[in-house]
Amino acid sequence: MYQHFDYKSKTLHCDGVSLETLATEVGTPFYAYSLSSILERASAYVNGLKPIGGKVCYSVKANSNLTILKELFAIGCGADIVSGGELYRVLLAGGDDVPIIFSGVGKTKEEIDAAIDARVTCFNIESVDELDLIASRASLRNAVAPIAIRVNPNIDAKTHPYISTGLYDNKFGVPAKETLQLYKRAKDIPSIKVSGLACHIGSQLTTAQPFAESWNFLLETVRQLGEMAISIDHLDIGGGLGINYGDGKPCQLSIAEFCDNVCNATKSLANQDITVMCEPGRSIVGEAGTLVTKVIRTKLNGSKHFTVVDGAMNDLIRPSLYQSHHPILPVREKDNEQIPTDVVGPICESGDFFAKDRKLAKAEAGDLLALMAAGAYGASMASRYNSRPIVAEVLCKDSVWKQIRKRESYRDLVALESF
Ligand code: LLP
Repeated sequence: MYQHFDYKSKTLHCDGVSLETLATEVGTPFYAYSLSSILERASAYVNGLKPIGGKVCYSVKANSNLTILKELFAIGCGADIVSGGELYRVLLAGGDDVPIIFSGVGKTKEEIDAAIDARVTCFNIESVDELDLIASRASLRNAVAPIAIRVNPNIDAKTHPYISTGLYDNKFGVPAKETLQLYKRAKDIPSIKVSGLACHIGSQLTTAQPFAESWNFLLETVRQLGEMAISIDHLDIGGGLGINYGDGKPCQLSIAEFCDNVCNATKSLANQDITVMCEPGRSIVGEAGTLVTKVIRTKLNGSKHFTVVDGAMNDLIRPSLYQSHHPILPVREKDNEQIPTDVVGPICESGDFFAKDRKLAKAEAGDLLALMAAGAYGASMASRYNSRPIVAEVLCKDSVWKQIRKRESYRDLVALESF
């Protein structure tokens, strides 16, 4: 069972709060998060990197709710952002004085201007074109933009192809062999300050080996930069660990072990005044969240059993998009027989499923099911497809809860349209 989720009187609780009570109070579907779990995980990174003075820049895309951002900034996290919208959220959540790293292959002129004005800590550069655009925008604003070059090391992270980012087949980063050339160019631009080196090879990494491979690569690049008399003040090692999705491939190391590995691998940087930065997202919020959905009805198509629920792929797209497994727990424990069933939503697509042929205690209309490990890339990837309003989000801690996002109404759905 995930930390801070447990059954009390046969009812599933999140951080001491009954998910049944929440369903009555806010309706279904809804996301519930354990703040204790989020803070423990984030603190494990913050404390784990302390021996080397490392910094944690939470990857906002994993879950960008303002309250969660505010809580993470309060315990010393910075932010890793990839859009003007994420910058806006970070500033609104009080992140104007935290380290902000701006990543992404498609930064626009407007986003760059906003980030220069917000004095972000670093732009992670992913192409020559982007470097030149940032240089000209900074120059127009009489500013000097700090940059790191995000190198693509062509390392296989052995994760789902959609979330692998460090191969030449992927759109990300600057190919390793072009990196040093780009640093030379950047060094001579007056409106650019060469500040760091960055890399991210993929997400949902569950073993130590691909990380170690990319760190070795980065250390070698730092050495080569030194030979060229190019000094940097930070090394951004990219995202964090994968999590346990109950698919038989749990993450093989804890956050503390991951941080120990980072500290050991990068010891040599301390006397060069290079700060290590890490951008974890999934491992901070993923296991801390659940999507609670209500069974509308069950049906048989021939011998095939379906459990139709009120949540759908627009609320949590991970099973449809990456065929990812999320454990499904009954909110109220039942002794019903276990049967294989497809748990599906009401959306008019056969790809709208949460699980296929999953053995679950036979559910009935009105039962609540909890899709576990849904705190990362759940709410933040939600859409309004089939004109389904975005669901509510609730934050729980020590038996107390508060709604951190209201369920949208039909009026909200059409609010920006005219006819
Ligand atoms: N830094 C960069 C530059 C990234 O691209 C990412 C994730 C992260 C940090 C955070 O990585 P994490 O610690 O969460 O592994 N929607 C997909 C995941 C996409 C991840 C994209 N980049 C999913 O639901 O699995």
